[in-house]
Amino acid sequence: MDIQTHRLELTEISWVDLENIHRLHSIFEVDEFNTVGIPKNIEETRENIKPYVNAKECDPQSKYTWNIIIKATGEFIGLGGIKLSLDKFRIGEIFYKLLPEHWGKGYATEVSKQLIEVGFDRFNLHRIEAGCAVKNFKSIRVLEKSGMTREGIYRKILPIRGEWVDSYLYSIIEDERKKNTDR
Ligand SMILES: CC(C)(COP(=O)(O)OP(=O)(O)OC[C@H]1O[C@@H](n2cnc3c(N)ncnc32)[C@H](O)[C@@H]1OP(=O)(O)O)[C@@H](O)C(=O)NCCC(=O)NCCS
Repeated sequence: MDIQTHRLELTEISWVDLENIHRLHSIFEVDEFNTVGIPKNIEETRENIKPYVNAKECDPQSKYTWNIIIKATGEFIGLGGIKLSLDKFRIGEIFYKLLPEHWGKGYATEVSKQLIEVGFDRFNLHRIEAGCAVKNFKSIRVLEKSGMTREGIYRKILPIRGEWVDSYLYSIIEDERKKNTDR
């Protein structure tokens, strides 16, 4: 399942993307607020992403991870994804991460808004969530520009480089989506 935005194409990841994903996961700035950790080698990345690549084989598929590609150049610039709850809850959790040379151009917001649209329209979700370390100011801004509301804080929930880090919980509910187009 592929997705288009104005400037970007999102294609589901497969093993041919391993090197790009390893490069992305090996950058300190990308990992700064993430729990993945810098992989020691490409084999560690292979293990880390196995459940996400293999998710395509599951029926029903509950995890989607997409390469983020600039349409005009075909360049890989990052990853985005959504994890779906059991059907009766109709919840999805989104994420995104980009190579630093592509930060500050509105790409993450473009992806986040599109994942929200896809979540409501194609996956028939009722609620879409995202978590975000409390000091990840760029991502906080992305979530707020995407029309999401800060619901609260999970205390000491993210294990990041040996510390327990607080995380905000953001969400948007299906009848709030109009906010997306108003901002
Ligand atoms: C978070 C991340 C995805 C943002 O990507 P991006 O494409 O630069 O985001 P956008 O350009 O769409 O928006 C960034 C916003 O943050 C703002 N911003 C940048 N630095 C900031 C800071 N220190 N404090 C507050 N806002 C800041 C930008 O000005 C912009 O807002 P604006 O459009 O109102 O000016 C990117 O930094 C990244 O990949 N980080 C590492 C992975 C990660 O943390 N992912 C999120 C996990 S929750």
